[in-house]
Amino acid sequence: MKDQLLELKMKALKELESVSERSDLEKLRQQYLGRKGLLALLLKKLTALPKEERPVIGKLANQVKEELHKQFQFVSDSLTAKAVESESAFDVTLPGRRIPLGHLHPITKTTEEICTIFSTLGFRVVEGPEVELDYYNFEALNMPKDHPARDIQDTFYVSDTVVLRTHTSPMQIRIMESQSPPVSIIAPGKVYRPDSDVSHTPMFHQVEGLLVDKGITFGDLKGTLTTFIHQIFAHDTKLRFRTGFFPFTEPSAEVDIQCVICKGAGCRTCSYTGWIEILGSGMVDPEVFKAVGYDPENVSGFAFGMGVERIAMLKSGLDDIRLFFENDIRFLQQF
Ligand code: FA5
Ligand code: MG
Repeated sequence: MKDQLLELKMKALKELESVSERSDLEKLRQQYLGRKGLLALLLKKLTALPKEERPVIGKLANQVKEELHKQFQFVSDSLTAKAVESESAFDVTLPGRRIPLGHLHPITKTTEEICTIFSTLGFRVVEGPEVELDYYNFEALNMPKDHPARDIQDTFYVSDTVVLRTHTSPMQIRIMESQSPPVSIIAPGKVYRPDSDVSHTPMFHQVEGLLVDKGITFGDLKGTLTTFIHQIFAHDTKLRFRTGFFPFTEPSAEVDIQCVICKGAGCRTCSYTGWIEILGSGMVDPEVFKAVGYDPENVSGFAFGMGVERIAMLKSGLDDIRLFFENDIRFLQQF
């Protein structure tokens, strides 16, 4: 019986050596160590042995059983290890993991597009403070304290002398104070007014433009703004210069484009007029030149200020300005 046990062990170990599949391993385990396996069968004969031999053979049988268990476990572990290894091996044919990429906000994109067009026309891009002195926002722009024109733009006051700028026009003063003519700049940035409805938000964006040199005329203003509008919108966009009033320009004009939604037929977006205002403009008022120490007898110039949201809305056919600032990812992903 002792020889039979040892022979069984040798046979099992030999067969284990050639196992490479888990299913074969399980079959072999049943064959040797199962409830009706070879070892169990052999142990049944234990009762037929003489009494003195039983403990000795019993002990040996346990040793064989334990060793085979260990050996099966070892082979099982190494099969698992092999499987893990082949799974984590680098598969060069797998597609890479996509890293989600964001994009610029539609207002940022539109601002950049506006700046690019004016840059190619020779304008330099400058930026200035959003918290502004009353002097730059109003006074130097020919709007002294108690001037009725201040009512045109409702204002957030920080103190008696400091405001959140209501437009980008203070940049005209800051630039002219810091350099002598000729000047050609555009100044994009945030502006603030206590306003809120479908076409107004308390914070919005403007791009200011200023060109000053000897002999600049209203014809230059019309040519520059017409070129710009035909580039930012379609090349055949209809536009009109409409008489306007700003304390810092004389004469002044507001520029309308034919409504891009209804093509001039009249709709909700254009209040059924067929036209939409996109900017204010005019020839720089002599009072403004005097405030910065320029000689109005010697130089002339034009200025303009446009609403970036207005232009972005017209380009994308939106009718509610507030969508730009709700940061709803489903809205933003469309751009
Ligand atoms: C001005 O702000 C003048 N500074 C423009 C100017 C510059 C005139 C230089 C002459 C020379 P106005 O208040 O009309 O003008 O605003 C200009 C543009 O900003 C408007 O045409 C409109 O497109 C936009 N805008 C005005 N208020 C709001 C608002 N609350 N929300 C969104 N866009 C606005
Ligand atoms: Mg206006």
